[in-house]
Amino acid sequence: MKTQVCIIGGGPSGLMLSQLLHLKGIDTIVLERQSREYVLGRIRAGVLEHGFAELMREAQCGERMDREGEIHDGFYIAHDGKLDRVDLKKYSGGSSVVVYGQTELTRDLYEARDKMDGKVIHNVEDVTLHDLKSDAPWVTYRDGDEIVRIDCDFVIGADGFHGVSRKSIPKDVLTEHEKVYPFGWLGVLSRTKPVSPELIYARNDRGFALCSLRSQVLSRYYIQVPLTDSVEDWSDEAFWDELKQRLPDEVSAKLETGPSIEKSIAPLRSFVAEPMRYGNLFLAGDAAHIVPPTGARGLNSAASDIYYLYHGMVDHYLNGDDAGLEGYSAKALARVWKAQRFSWWMTTLLHTFPESITYDQRLQETDMEYLFSSEKALGSLAENYVGLPF
Ligand code: APR
Ligand code: PHB
Repeated sequence: MKTQVCIIGGGPSGLMLSQLLHLKGIDTIVLERQSREYVLGRIRAGVLEHGFAELMREAQCGERMDREGEIHDGFYIAHDGKLDRVDLKKYSGGSSVVVYGQTELTRDLYEARDKMDGKVIHNVEDVTLHDLKSDAPWVTYRDGDEIVRIDCDFVIGADGFHGVSRKSIPKDVLTEHEKVYPFGWLGVLSRTKPVSPELIYARNDRGFALCSLRSQVLSRYYIQVPLTDSVEDWSDEAFWDELKQRLPDEVSAKLETGPSIEKSIAPLRSFVAEPMRYGNLFLAGDAAHIVPPTGARGLNSAASDIYYLYHGMVDHYLNGDDAGLEGYSAKALARVWKAQRFSWWMTTLLHTFPESITYDQRLQETDMEYLFSSEKALGSLAENYVGLPF
């Protein structure tokens, strides 16, 4: 087989890029290791920054998001028994975020690819990247007993943190920066009315908690737990009980509980691999960087990679201009690191660190006091949360 751009990974990053390039007449093949059902079964964050929502529209996939997604102009931070609102719209100069589940968004991208006869090949095994430094890279995968070869101009590594693309870059070329946090998030999805129309991030001595939602009948809650905990340690009852203890009384009093329809624990990690280009391989999204979920930056941090790659590819194929692709890694990393800084800061501000010394705790308290006493500090939080410009 032959294509212009071979995309490894059919998550939001790979699908979005494939869709955008297709609309400009650039041919792509997406190779996905899992089945579509598996990909659509993954539950992930649901806050989209303005720029990502715009990309969905440009990809002609924004219709359902615009109809069913909720625009949020603010969120709350609960701390010291108080509930303080961060007015995103006011402090970001008019921006907001869209609350729309990532599962739904991925479904929309798949449907759009189907409608255009996009080539998304599922259940591929043993994807291997070849001759990445040459002008004629190629990719192979195994389909049963058969090895299939795809020749292309460019390979996009959009295969997430555990994918093969980043691992195909020689170790002496790649620098990996990683920070692992000493806790995880236990998440519960329940068919209950959300406790608050806007998200509540709660800082509490017992640990962090988050009240989020997918719709007005579907809630998503999280609590910080030690890494040694497993899902089996947490009955629904124990989860609701602990969540209530971490929220201000006025919020706990109206919390509607019910059976969990999904329950999982995710560790928190910050990670960046640089550079994001090796020859004609370009990394995008989780393949190159991971953020802890505290600032809802995961998907949004992938969005700028896709935006730069999309424009770089269009300039290459339609205008014969390679400046965008040449500058991709540096440009993408500059924004990636800002999203890293913000996610690390939100995580540090809101979590309880098991080994922290009193000095760190006082700084954390002071950071919170400063935030709600300074319009400039709130402005910094808001502009990062709604998304820095691409
Ligand atoms: N070959 C083919 N596909 C692979 C391989 C491989 N060797 N390894 C992984 N994949 C697939 C995974 O099955 C997954 O569907 O690549 C896809 C990567 O998708 P995500 O992990 O969702 O990464 P990305 O698309 O960059 O998502 C960016 O969205 O889902 C969130 O946490 C994610 O916030 C991040 C953002
Ligand atoms: C979620 O709804 O899953 C969610 C929302 C905001 C976050 C993280 C997760 O910061």
